[in-house]
Amino acid sequence: MSAAPIDKAKDGLDRVLVLEIARVTEAAAVAAARWRGRGNEKAADKAAVDSMRRELGRVNIDGTVVIGEGELDEAPMLFIGEKVGTGNGPAVDIAVDPLEGTTICAKAMPNSLAVLAIAERGGLLHAPDMYMNKIAIGPGYPEGIVDLDASPADNLHALAKAKGVRINEIMACILDRPRHAELIKAVRDCGAGVQLIPDGDIAGVIWTTDPAETGIDIYLGSGGAPEGVLAAAALRCIGGQIQGRLMPMKDEERVRAAKMGADVNRKYTMTDMASGDVIFSATGITGGSLLGGVHFRGDFAETETVVMRAKSGTVRRIKTTLRTVAVRT
Ligand code: FBP
Repeated sequence: MSAAPIDKAKDGLDRVLVLEIARVTEAAAVAAARWRGRGNEKAADKAAVDSMRRELGRVNIDGTVVIGEGELDEAPMLFIGEKVGTGNGPAVDIAVDPLEGTTICAKAMPNSLAVLAIAERGGLLHAPDMYMNKIAIGPGYPEGIVDLDASPADNLHALAKAKGVRINEIMACILDRPRHAELIKAVRDCGAGVQLIPDGDIAGVIWTTDPAETGIDIYLGSGGAPEGVLAAAALRCIGGQIQGRLMPMKDEERVRAAKMGADVNRKYTMTDMASGDVIFSATGITGGSLLGGVHFRGDFAETETVVMRAKSGTVRRIKTTLRTVAVRT
């Protein structure tokens, strides 16, 4: 009896793409790493963007950037709507953050990353570049145990109860910003702890997926909407829950959201932001608790990447040694 033919639609993205996508974030991380600690955010970002775009051009996909460096008039590369890939391959939507944490990279502080997610066409929310209010927890909790519209106290009590611990054993990760003063106070007032981070909330959300290792149970607060979609893509693969709502600060942002078909009143769930099969890859630029940074050794660069796929739930950590000089033949 011959084997049943593989149903490509049901099978999701070709799993070979996992390695291809990891290559793309590796290249961006190595390029940005040369600018670590130089105090030049723009140069570091440009290096990561150029390199990511070059590598994406080699991947056999018919890709469209849906989350990128901005709109065509403000970003010459990896702009929203830009076609990337060889064009020979599956139609996919792409979300990029070639340098997540430009300031921390420029200051050589921990946890800057090169990040990329791809999904089947239509699988990623076209989130405009504005703030998004977010709440995220890791896997293993009943659906809806925390809610963006509930108070911090209610969410933290519900989480502590579900985890079977006292509230003073719960740690929230929040971006260290004046706008979060009230939120931080509310979390501390009910007895929970707050780990403040200077930047990089994609990592902040991912940390919630392994509280035993990271000490972080919940991510709270506002950060970039594009980062929210990338974090949702990661959680689609590892498991967990995230909700986000756009926070337009001015009319221009409301217009931009409408133009992109995003609803500023809607509470987006994880699958609203990232659905179908998704591949997520992040490579460390500066070393941190999620990933080691790039190490240059002579003619080689060593990188650490986490790459995962929603369909299979596989999470791979890849340590790669890349030759950084051309080999003469
Ligand atoms: P950049 O790499 O674009 O600088 O983003 C860093 C970051 O910390 C994100 O992780 C986060 O979502 C966003 O900035 C928060 O924005 P803000 O610095 O305006 O609070």
